[in-house]
Amino acid sequence: MFASARSFQNYLAIIVTALISSLFLFPAYAQQDDDVKPIGHIELSNPADLTKQQAEQIYLSVLPEIKAIFAMSDIGAATKYTSWKRYNNAPYISATHGARYVDNYANEIAKDYGKLKRGETYPKGSILAKDSFSVTSDQSIFPGALFLMEKMGKGFNKPSGDWKYTMVLPDGSVFGTTNGENSDIVEFCIGCHAAKATLDHIFYVPKGYSKDP
Ligand code: HEC
Repeated sequence: MFASARSFQNYLAIIVTALISSLFLFPAYAQQDDDVKPIGHIELSNPADLTKQQAEQIYLSVLPEIKAIFAMSDIGAATKYTSWKRYNNAPYISATHGARYVDNYANEIAKDYGKLKRGETYPKGSILAKDSFSVTSDQSIFPGALFLMEKMGKGFNKPSGDWKYTMVLPDGSVFGTTNGENSDIVEFCIGCHAAKATLDHIFYVPKGYSKDP
């Protein structure tokens, strides 16, 4: 299963960081959910267990609301990422991003998202955006955080591969951003993504969910 001891090590690093970071993420989310209003309701017998088609339908139906929420943000990418190319064919649950359904977008500069060869890097100005939502057992749909990675100039932040990580809360406010507001609370992003250092810290969407075959 693992090509080398190194990739096994990377795998372990991801799991450990996921466990640690969930300690960070879940309290923040739990607290936040009290004030976050649902953006839709659905009629399903088991909303926790959506099919790919159901997840896609729900996402498309609440996308205008998600868009309106992030349009309130001061972060430029948050206000326009939904006009960029989307790279996944249906929302999938991301255990590493708060166990929400997520979707991936990349701007024009990052058009080689997922196609990079080992050792190559994305151009400065590349931005990747991942929005998220959850579906609760009482059939409500809640908006989740927006996760951003922006490629900065050389020397911005060596451990992060010069990526600026930003987490935007579902009211448009910034939870943390590398080398900026609350930089320390988004440091765990860097640690986990560094497992993919040979691919410029990028994981890409899971198998079976990529729009590009
Ligand atoms: C424990 C590991 C882990 C942590 C922590 C983590 N990520 Fe990720 N990230 C991943 C994985 C795995 C993927 C691809 C699969 C997925 O979406 O779940 C990904 C994908 C992404 C993507 C799409 C680009 C890509 O790599 O394909 C963005 C943007 C992103 N993460 C931002 C963030 C931000 C911002 C944070 C911190 C607030 C963060 N991530 C924390 C593991 C992590």
